[in-house]
Amino acid sequence: MAQFTVDSDVVRTSPDQIATALADPGFGRYFVDHIARAVWNPDEGWHGRRLIGAGPIPMHPGLAALHYGQEIFEGLKAYRHPDGSVWLFRPELNARRFASSAERMAMPQLPVDDFLDSVHQVVSLNKDWVPAGQGEQSLYVRPFMFGSETLIGVRTAQEHTYMCLASPAGPYYADPLTLWVTPNFSRSMVGGTGMAKCGGNYASAMAAEVEAHAQGCGQVLWLDSATRTLVEEGGTMNFFVVTADDELLTPALTGTILAGITRDSLLQLASSHGLTPVERPLELTELLDGIRSGHITEALACGTAAVISPVVGLKSPDFELTIGDGTPGPRTLELRSHLTGIQFGTLPDAFGWLRPVA
Ligand SMILES: Cc1ncc(COP(=O)(O)O)c(C=O)c1O
Repeated sequence: MAQFTVDSDVVRTSPDQIATALADPGFGRYFVDHIARAVWNPDEGWHGRRLIGAGPIPMHPGLAALHYGQEIFEGLKAYRHPDGSVWLFRPELNARRFASSAERMAMPQLPVDDFLDSVHQVVSLNKDWVPAGQGEQSLYVRPFMFGSETLIGVRTAQEHTYMCLASPAGPYYADPLTLWVTPNFSRSMVGGTGMAKCGGNYASAMAAEVEAHAQGCGQVLWLDSATRTLVEEGGTMNFFVVTADDELLTPALTGTILAGITRDSLLQLASSHGLTPVERPLELTELLDGIRSGHITEALACGTAAVISPVVGLKSPDFELTIGDGTPGPRTLELRSHLTGIQFGTLPDAFGWLRPVA
């Protein structure tokens, strides 16, 4: 396997400057010193695997991704445990999802080993940037790929660049969320790109996010675009409800929803909290009726960046509902403590999800 090799002249941020950044990292505000890069073209395949210094990259204004949006990304985190060691959470799943996103976008697939080697090396070389773990802080790792051929013309780019950045971060949403069910926009369609993690999905969702914020909501809850009767997911998170008969229910993956790694992990943790994991279509009317009748007792949204955010309300032009008593539900908080306990090394990793970083 070809490995990413490390440039010797990368300038390292001073320990004092890193300490200042880690004191209040925000999200995506500071970037680490070493980042990964590799390039693909049809003749050479993947080549030029290097760990280089973070900084501006030269690009021609005709760069294909700027015009036609061939771009995909991933998001995963490195966690520092109480003994100082650093761990990744299920990175193979990100590697596989990155490959399937590439396939959907007619981009070359980065081999899983290259993805994992680059992520491990970025975290390992930038270990001082991994926060100590208090306040659920971690190092957010952002692998991404874009069509880097200089090209005005609609066809798949004949050069693609893979990069991997990292940035120290706290949880994305500090407060419980009210979600906006937009009457105006759709995120995903059958045969579209909803199951891929491509930049275009997020670009086309910005208008709905602006609308949500104008309505005092933290995020959007998307419905299916064909019938607008089925609940799909949040803008950056999968959606779950807890029912009075102890189900942990989430919309089934039908090809229009991102297959979240946190989603999969919660489905596996459910039974240790006395909850039955259920994946099936969830009608909006069932959701609204269940909240009104009290059959749905809690809702939550989950993702790597968001961790587990309690959802305490839903809003649209047609309804405004409080879920439960409007405060984070107990099962939501239990699941959150369990998941973060595994990630931060304070609870046993019974499923073998953690990978050590050398
Ligand atoms: C649209 C969308 N759905 C769901 C998720 C959750 O996925 P994961 O748990 O793998 O981070 C994300 C976050 O990446 C997302 O952007």
